[in-house]
Amino acid sequence: MKLLIINGPNLNLLGTREPEIYGSQSFESYLQELREMLDGEEIEYMQSNHEGDIIDFLHGADCDGIILNAGAYTHTSLAIADAIAAIQIPVIEVHISNVAAREAIRHTSLIAPECKGTIAGFGLNSYFLAAQAFIMDPSLR
Ligand code: DQA
Repeated sequence: MKLLIINGPNLNLLGTREPEIYGSQSFESYLQELREMLDGEEIEYMQSNHEGDIIDFLHGADCDGIILNAGAYTHTSLAIADAIAAIQIPVIEVHISNVAAREAIRHTSLIAPECKGTIAGFGLNSYFLAAQAFIMDPSLR
């Protein structure tokens, strides 16, 4: 199975960005572990700090499932929600932190209604759990 991880703004700084919230591991290092844990599955990775790039990644995706951490755009971007609605590939929303336990503005996700589901609060393993959801449930595809 081919999965695409898309990370949004500021997630390129994982490892050094607010480590008390997001941990001290870089995404590149986690990605290496994830690929080992999901041996046999193809994991593609894209990151951008720009809303339009994320929309272009969604439009251009060629895979069985997308794991999307839209960062702060989660809470603001109708355009990313529309892009998810516009494509046929299923999308799972992920967050490293438990957004429900944080500031009220983070409790709203504009993209959630267009996604198959949301996984939040398990640190970087939120990505592993989302990948498992795709692997274990073929009906998501
Ligand atoms: C985040 C949560 C968002 O509220 C925040 O803006 C991020 C990261 C997470 O993975 O916990 O950039 O998506």
